[in-house]
Amino acid sequence: MNLIKRITLLMGLTISLFSTAGFAQDLSEAAIAERIAPVGSVYLDGEIMTAQQEPTEPAGPRSGEKIYNTYCVACHGSGVLGAPKKGDADAWQPRIAQGAETLLKHALEGFNSMPAKGTCGDCSEQEIVSTIAFLTNGL
Ligand code: HEC
Repeated sequence: MNLIKRITLLMGLTISLFSTAGFAQDLSEAAIAERIAPVGSVYLDGEIMTAQQEPTEPAGPRSGEKIYNTYCVACHGSGVLGAPKKGDADAWQPRIAQGAETLLKHALEGFNSMPAKGTCGDCSEQEIVSTIAFLTNGL
């Protein structure tokens, strides 16, 4: 190989090396930091609020309307199994006439096809009281 050829080859090689290095690598500090950052990240329990840790219900008793729409509407919305429908005065009058105490007792303990607490197992007595008030509102 003669000298000219060798020099030309060397020059070509040098130019190609430097030119690719010039635009192929991002040498900015941010890019370098990203490349050498450890894989994954660590957080300590409680440091970040995850979806599971968020309180599912606001503190305090739920409204009668909310409980009704979650648990009672399945039966008391349609009257299935002979449940007195919400707003049906004829169905509720004789029941209301028993007195609030009996209504509450039946709602808490169950009564024929009416399940105990109307299937709201974690309902407090106070929440059942406000749900009955919502069910019989205006009657
Ligand atoms: C699985 C269906 C069902 C669900 C759910 C249900 N009920 Fe009832 N409920 C009934 C039926 C049926 C009756 C009528 C029982 C009877 O008179 O034989 C009834 C009756 C009642 C009565 C009248 C009791 C009486 O002494 O006449 C109240 C009050 C009541 N339900 C409240 C509720 C509340 C509050 C909820 C929701 C937390 C609820 N129910 C959910 C079926 C249901």
